[in-house]
Amino acid sequence: MGSTRHILHIVGARPNFVKVAPVLRALKEYDLRQTLIHTGQHYDANMSDVFFTQLEIPAPDINLEVGSGSHASQTAEIMRRLEPVISDRRPDLVLVYGDVNSTLAAALVCSKLLVPVAHVEAGLRSFDRTMPEEINRVVTDCLSDMLFTPSEDADANLQREGVSNARIHLVGNVMIDSLIRLLPQARECAIDNLPERFALVTLHRPANVDNSENLLSIMRCIIEACGELDIVFPVHPRTRQRLSQLESDSRLHLLEPVPYVQFLSLQTHGGVVITDSGGIQEETTYLGIPCLTLRESTERPITISLGTNTLIGNDMNRLRLEMQKILGGSGKKGVIPPLWDGETGRRIARIIAQS
Ligand code: UD1
Repeated sequence: MGSTRHILHIVGARPNFVKVAPVLRALKEYDLRQTLIHTGQHYDANMSDVFFTQLEIPAPDINLEVGSGSHASQTAEIMRRLEPVISDRRPDLVLVYGDVNSTLAAALVCSKLLVPVAHVEAGLRSFDRTMPEEINRVVTDCLSDMLFTPSEDADANLQREGVSNARIHLVGNVMIDSLIRLLPQARECAIDNLPERFALVTLHRPANVDNSENLLSIMRCIIEACGELDIVFPVHPRTRQRLSQLESDSRLHLLEPVPYVQFLSLQTHGGVVITDSGGIQEETTYLGIPCLTLRESTERPITISLGTNTLIGNDMNRLRLEMQKILGGSGKKGVIPPLWDGETGRRIARIIAQS
């Protein structure tokens, strides 16, 4: 093994896979040893394996196979299973990604073992502590030694929290690296039996989907707001069960979760997206497609100030009005934020190699 530095990456859920791929690839250019650990937070083939295949991520060296659970039990189980691995392997640096429970658990374990942590996609804040991801972001950033940020607003958040500039590295948006790489494939990718134009819908935030009444009422409003327009909705496992009570509608196409390339293809072909996801607000901004976000706040404000995103919250009148604008051809136009250029993985790798 000699003195080659050992970099260990920890991922667990769908959006993590999109973020780790460019960093793993870029770090290969340097004389470093890399290890990949999958916590098993997401485990269905269409939530995990297919992302590894499409994004050409090597098979994980270890899968902790934690599976689903309440926040505390999932986080604790990841910590319990990860601790001996980190103690045993003693990497020189651990990279954690995004804001899922796996991110938080990994940051806690490593920092207590005095292993340096780098957080990719640091500094984002919704300022809404009712979102589990917000807690994950705040704690992970607090524990991380290197903070790789996607945009200047993230730097400002960290500075306000007293993080020294020496720890903050503005590198751009790593998710966009994956998007740029696979966009040509997505443009070529045809998905059978779909209408020419449609609204693409995704919903999986607990606040929107964990209560059946709430979810059904949101869905009815979406259907009404879309008028004649078809709706394509790849359904997250968290949402599936409660949707079974929705009356059928010939314009509503419910799909299983779709792989990354197919999902990009749906975004590029549909014309409008209605979502409560974080990453999709960024992808639509890059693609220049109007995005209506069913949340009260966003940790990605640049998608509103520069991009195509509009926050709707739970104001269904607003949803109708914004949909009318989009259908009338006057949807929001935006620009691509600085450093969302496909080079973020390389910038991260360069900084790590020089550190
Ligand atoms: C998690 C992240 C969220 C991210 C989302 C992307 C946290 C707190 N949340 O939410 O930030 O936007 O991933 O998808 O980490 N399930 C399956 N198969 C799977 C995975 C999950 O059926 O492969 C079902 C289980 O019933 C599980 C539920 O989905 O209980 C929720 O999964 P979980 O990973 O806890 O949260 P997500 O809603 O996916």
